[in-house]
Amino acid sequence: MRMTDLIAKKRDGFELSTEEIKWMIASYVAGEVADYQMSAMCMAIFFRGMTARETLDLTMAMMHSGEVIDLSAIEGVKADKHSTGGVGDKTSLILCPMVAACGVKIAKMSGRGLGHTGGTLDKLESFPGFNIGIGEERFIENVNRIGISLIGQTADIVPADKKLYALRDVTGTVPSIPLIVSSIMSKKLASGADVIVLDVKCGSGAFMKTEDQARELAEGLTRIGRLAGKKCAAVITDMDQPLGCAVGNALEVKEAISVLKGEKKGDLLELCLTLGSCILIEAGFAADVESARAKLLETIESGAALKKLAEMVEAQDGSAADVYDPSRLPLAPVQVEVPSERAGYLSHIEAEKVGLISMHLGGGRATKESDIDLSVGLVLHKKVGDAVAECESLGTIHATNAAKAAEAADLLRACCTISDAPVERPAFIKAIIR
Ligand code: URA
Repeated sequence: MRMTDLIAKKRDGFELSTEEIKWMIASYVAGEVADYQMSAMCMAIFFRGMTARETLDLTMAMMHSGEVIDLSAIEGVKADKHSTGGVGDKTSLILCPMVAACGVKIAKMSGRGLGHTGGTLDKLESFPGFNIGIGEERFIENVNRIGISLIGQTADIVPADKKLYALRDVTGTVPSIPLIVSSIMSKKLASGADVIVLDVKCGSGAFMKTEDQARELAEGLTRIGRLAGKKCAAVITDMDQPLGCAVGNALEVKEAISVLKGEKKGDLLELCLTLGSCILIEAGFAADVESARAKLLETIESGAALKKLAEMVEAQDGSAADVYDPSRLPLAPVQVEVPSERAGYLSHIEAEKVGLISMHLGGGRATKESDIDLSVGLVLHKKVGDAVAECESLGTIHATNAAKAAEAADLLRACCTISDAPVERPAFIKAIIR
């Protein structure tokens, strides 16, 4: 086979065969297909698209480019969740303990944050001592014993994606549905869970800016999951404003704990109930949405979900006391309020820019190698649709010094649009695809 022929075939709108796709990925990973050829192929796919069969073949070829995790030593149904990336997204810290408290096993490998979006691993490391590298044996033992473990990637999963994603990032070929679907699903399938639930973000702070694009992606992801033999569902959610109120690692952990304690409701709890219901139904743990939501809410009311998080933290070398008393978590030395310059209604918050403020305060990584400060970030006091009085605080900045705090406060004020007329609260859950 010659890569030149495959590029021309896709360029001219023809379907690649299973064998051609397998050969292309294997040869690319082996260094026998050059980056410039793969770039041309990605661009041809960007314009010509791929059929469901081609996308499945690409996904499976990528998945088999590295190790595939075997979770068969874990008893019961194993579930995994993926988010396409958002600002203030601490969902896994709430959802996973809730679902585990209902009896579905959570054996999840998470990532670190890069750019304006945070990663679950960084958030978990806000618990002093928390070990994301406990190794596969302890990981499996913990899931069997307490029903939940969240760790960093151990095995060399999907090396094809590492190479391909880096290439797409610099060749303008990231926003292609078949390439995104194969990138996400190859990693999810390699992680070994039986049930996969996807949170597809939509809006100014997300990859997919419109609901139509998000729906196309969600349908593509679930189709490939099901074709690969998994139970799969997706939820399309709003990312026109940050999720919940806190943005920054320890601040997000504190917010997650307040949801698990039943102190905080709103979009964050709603998302966890929606994703959690999809998991319980797909896992066969609930017959319908009403009974699934009731079970999940019960884990909050009884304290079972909070206890599950505490058990996980303790089992991964942290202290359960930090879960029950989050004032023990890292706290930035300087806190500054951001008073509104005018009265009105909050009509828009620039989600991506809010994420960047937290990053510039030191809470996010500009490059993979950057160190992060777990204590910094910001907490919004208003969501879109809320009334704001003059001088009322729009949010609190948590910073390492007064100069950084003042700069971040100005930036946050600039991210918020205040209108004279009342503004309708945007629908948060846009669609559920099951
Ligand atoms: N996230 C991924 O993992 N891959 C993509 O292509 C896009 C988002």
